[in-house]
Amino acid sequence: MDFMNSVLIIGNGGREHAILKALLRSDRPLCLFAFPGNPGMEQDGCMLVDKKINSISDLAEWAHNNGIDLTIVGPEAPLVEGIVDAFKEKGLTIFGPTKSAARIEGSKAFAKELMKKYSIPTASHSVFIDKKSAVDYLHQHGAPIVIKVSGLAAGKGAVVCDSIEIAENTLIDIFDNKSFGEAGNTVILEEKMVGEEASVFVLTDGRNYKILPVSQDHKAINDGDKGPNTGGMGAYAPAPIMDKAMLEKVENQIIKPVLNAMETEGCRYQGLLYCGIMITSEGPKVVEFNCRFGDPETQAVLPLVNSDWYELFHSCAAGKLEKVDWNVKPGYCVSVILASRGYPGKYEKGKVITGIEEIEQDRENVDIYHSGTALDREERLITNGGRVLAVSAWADGLLEAIDAAYEGVTDINFEGKTYRGDIGSKGVSRLKLQREENIAL
Ligand code: AMP
Ligand code: GLY
Repeated sequence: MDFMNSVLIIGNGGREHAILKALLRSDRPLCLFAFPGNPGMEQDGCMLVDKKINSISDLAEWAHNNGIDLTIVGPEAPLVEGIVDAFKEKGLTIFGPTKSAARIEGSKAFAKELMKKYSIPTASHSVFIDKKSAVDYLHQHGAPIVIKVSGLAAGKGAVVCDSIEIAENTLIDIFDNKSFGEAGNTVILEEKMVGEEASVFVLTDGRNYKILPVSQDHKAINDGDKGPNTGGMGAYAPAPIMDKAMLEKVENQIIKPVLNAMETEGCRYQGLLYCGIMITSEGPKVVEFNCRFGDPETQAVLPLVNSDWYELFHSCAAGKLEKVDWNVKPGYCVSVILASRGYPGKYEKGKVITGIEEIEQDRENVDIYHSGTALDREERLITNGGRVLAVSAWADGLLEAIDAAYEGVTDINFEGKTYRGDIGSKGVSRLKLQREENIAL
């Protein structure tokens, strides 16, 4: 008889649903739990932990009492708080960096100083803990300039300031109005980089690593990267801007040095390292490191990796990643976010969602991931957040994958359904350019 392993997934977004579906793609029998999880995860056979859990130690206790073999952490907050340390203390296996290693996201000041010390390419910067010194620096350097709060700020902690006035107001907001709370006690001023961004996900046990297909997020709410920033309105992978030569530079100048640096500093990094890269005219530079998978990039990246995800996660946690088969399928995956009207500002909840079951029955190359959904009293699926669903589709060609994703988008309905119509189009233009360059050669 097969031994059934138990897995606990922590988080409740599209990213965590994508992790669940990736685990389900292997033939391995698994007993799956999520805390807190979402209706889509429950529908896929995941049991939601309904016991009252008020702290990390409650959760570790629950995992211990329920014989969980592997815990996978989605969001950054529990990692930065030390969930991995708490689980390890109980002898539990958990995928993710320790509290000390999660500083790479939890403290931008730590990440920037690490990059400086180990000559990892990034924007030049200075760190400040008082407004006067920051304003003096601003006047010496002028605009454009980027101001970042050091602590966690739900993805909103970076302000690209194109004028001195905007920069001054941002510093007033952070230091005087405390608009970012404690996260803004330490502030970074850095050079504005120019280029295209890409998300490079590195799965690592601290020494060995696998680079996942490189993706591009679409942060602005409107087509053409217009309008306010959101948590991400869609992603696609692999992004052709990251060609083989560029990825080699990323690997040699960024990935290897940062993993070595973390080990040297006494905080070996295990888990998923998200490298936000700006491809500048001087080569790749780090915009930020995150200590977890990105959302919505995960929904576009995981469907392309056919390996046994239980084994991948488990081996990272156990420090044995070199032994695992790595199997990336050819082709492209495109993930389009369906959001509520008004997002990222105010939006209404409780709109009935239709069309998901039909898509899942009819199309083999489409996955629907839940983010902000809930069940109402009559057990109908309703909207319950800004980002509601992700529709991911994969195909041999990028255009085909885009078409398949948007067919899914059309078939799902809820009042106020909002989405970008240009997810993946940067990749299409880049591929066309690369083809023309190849013909010209
Ligand atoms: P972060 O919170 O560091 O991820 O930054 C959020 C977004 O701000 C990034 O995805 C970039 O689009 C932009 N950004 C951050 N730092 C810089 C920089 N030094 N130069 C240009 N854009 C930046
Ligand atoms: N997609 C951006 C992030 O997850 O931080």
